[in-house]
Amino acid sequence: MLLNFLAVLPIALAARVVVNWDVGYVMANRDGVRMRRCIGVNGQVPIPPIEMTVDDTLVLNVHNSLDQPTSVHSHGIFQNGTNYMDGPLMVTECGIPPGESFTYEYQITQTGTFWLHGHAQAQNSDGLRAPLIVRDKVKPYEYDDEYTFALEDWYSKEFAERHAEIMDPTKDFPPKPSFPTALINGYSGNAAQPVAFAPGKTYRVRVINMSTTENFQFSIPGHTLNVIEADGIYSLPHAVDILDLTPGQRYSALVTAKNSNEFNYYYNATVYIGLELMVLQVNPRVYLGLVEYKHGAPERVIDDIELSNKDRTPLLPVDRTIDLVVADHLYTSGETLASVNNITYIEPKIPTLLSALSLGDLAHNPVAYGPQTNAIVLNHMEYIEFNIINPTDRDHPMHIHGHVLQIAEYGPTPGPYFSPHNTSFVTPVPPQRKVASPFPIARDTVELSAFTYTKLRLRADNPGVWIMHCHVATVVEAPDVLARTLRMPEEMLQIAAQSSA
Ligand SMILES: *[C@@H]1O[C@H](CO)[C@@H](O)[C@H](O)[C@H]1NC(C)=O
Ligand SMILES: *[C@@H]1O[C@H](CO)[C@@H](O)[C@H](O)[C@H]1NC(C)=O
Ligand SMILES: *[C@@H]1O[C@H](CO)[C@@H](O)[C@H](O)[C@H]1NC(C)=O
Ligand SMILES: *[C@@H]1O[C@H](CO)[C@@H](O)[C@H](O)[C@H]1NC(C)=O
Repeated sequence: MLLNFLAVLPIALAARVVVNWDVGYVMANRDGVRMRRCIGVNGQVPIPPIEMTVDDTLVLNVHNSLDQPTSVHSHGIFQNGTNYMDGPLMVTECGIPPGESFTYEYQITQTGTFWLHGHAQAQNSDGLRAPLIVRDKVKPYEYDDEYTFALEDWYSKEFAERHAEIMDPTKDFPPKPSFPTALINGYSGNAAQPVAFAPGKTYRVRVINMSTTENFQFSIPGHTLNVIEADGIYSLPHAVDILDLTPGQRYSALVTAKNSNEFNYYYNATVYIGLELMVLQVNPRVYLGLVEYKHGAPERVIDDIELSNKDRTPLLPVDRTIDLVVADHLYTSGETLASVNNITYIEPKIPTLLSALSLGDLAHNPVAYGPQTNAIVLNHMEYIEFNIINPTDRDHPMHIHGHVLQIAEYGPTPGPYFSPHNTSFVTPVPPQRKVASPFPIARDTVELSAFTYTKLRLRADNPGVWIMHCHVATVVEAPDVLARTLRMPEEMLQIAAQSSA
């Protein structure tokens, strides 16, 4: 019966979703604290969300009106076969020079909740970020309506100014913390906009942490959040009270409204700072918005390792384990910089993708990419387990481009512990070892808490050059297949030639 019904539906044609972004500086008072220079598009911040349907092609025409190169990354989109459209500066491209234009064009065959952001310097933290919603042709779960909560950390100073203060070796170490405020869908958290709930209806609530460095917790006290999506991957429904999102992460949850409209409720978006600043007594900032139409028991906080993927994809096997130790090093210059296996990433002079395409037989030798790119070369279709070890007192969001990572296991690091901050702090209790369900969730951004390790698996089925950060390594995947199959658009090669001239 159902099959017959589907057979007579007209075939939905995939659309071209054309979006024009003139990226430039905009003056705005976003937090109600200070008018400041932001980065927006078409003279506007926040940047409107982009909404499309699976299999549509995104045509993003970007003109750069800044005085520095820019580039745009779609966080979570695999770019399978279109690696050169991925966006990170000096990994897959040289950036769009000031005054120039470039069109990012690619078909999107994934569904769920994603976001676009600048991937040159820290342009995202000055405002160059927007939600990207890709809807299914047939909803995998039933719901009546949906709301997106795009959460941003916001500072009253530009990133460059804050960074210069943090890195100034003549200033106190560790630097005095600056407190971010939160923006919710572009509005100051203090002016959170109401959402309407109707009795008995079910809503899909999408929450995106678009922040640069801060974590968020999201809840609707009195309502259960039935998680169905983590980073574009559907899960079996999983009931929690609080979502906890590291920068870059997304969740969708189904929320069923109460049967009565006698009371109104609140939604709660709380921005909080990692452990190091907790130690310095920086309190979280709580923002409440009205759920218009109304509390309880112990709270269940999400732990993504407890999610099962909906497709019943089993735990992947392992051909090779790669250990990555993430830490911070205090350099003689007085700067503290992030490292992977004791190497601090430094942008190469030539995008790594161009090196991978031109190195021939040498392309499988990690050394050929320069030691500071922290290149890890994977063979085509190899099953990899990354064993990521964080012996430091800071939480780190680990994000890989071009893939999702199955979360296989996490647990406490055995030590020794490492902290460049000569502060005395209470050693936190790291979580106990926990292994995934037989059908683990995979996601593109994984929180790596202080003093923990996590084991993440993937199959190398997407040839390309993929950055892994915020502690940076470059995954060079199947360069032999890439050299045979990838044809860079002429326009990109011209920009590269122009930039190196
Ligand atoms: C948002 O992500 C940032 C970056 O990982 C993280 O520090 C912050 O805790 C996240 N916010 C929430 C509320 O989870
Ligand atoms: C808001 O959420 C935060 C973090 O989950 C929690 O500490 C705080 O008590 C909540 N406040 C209200 C009023 O719900
Ligand atoms: C990193 O450096 C530390 C201290 O200098 C050393 O003990 C450790 O073995 C090094 N780790 C790696 C992975 O090279
Ligand atoms: C990339 O495409 C190939 C061929 O269509 C497919 O086998 C592979 O699973 C895809 N990888 C990802 C990460 O989508």
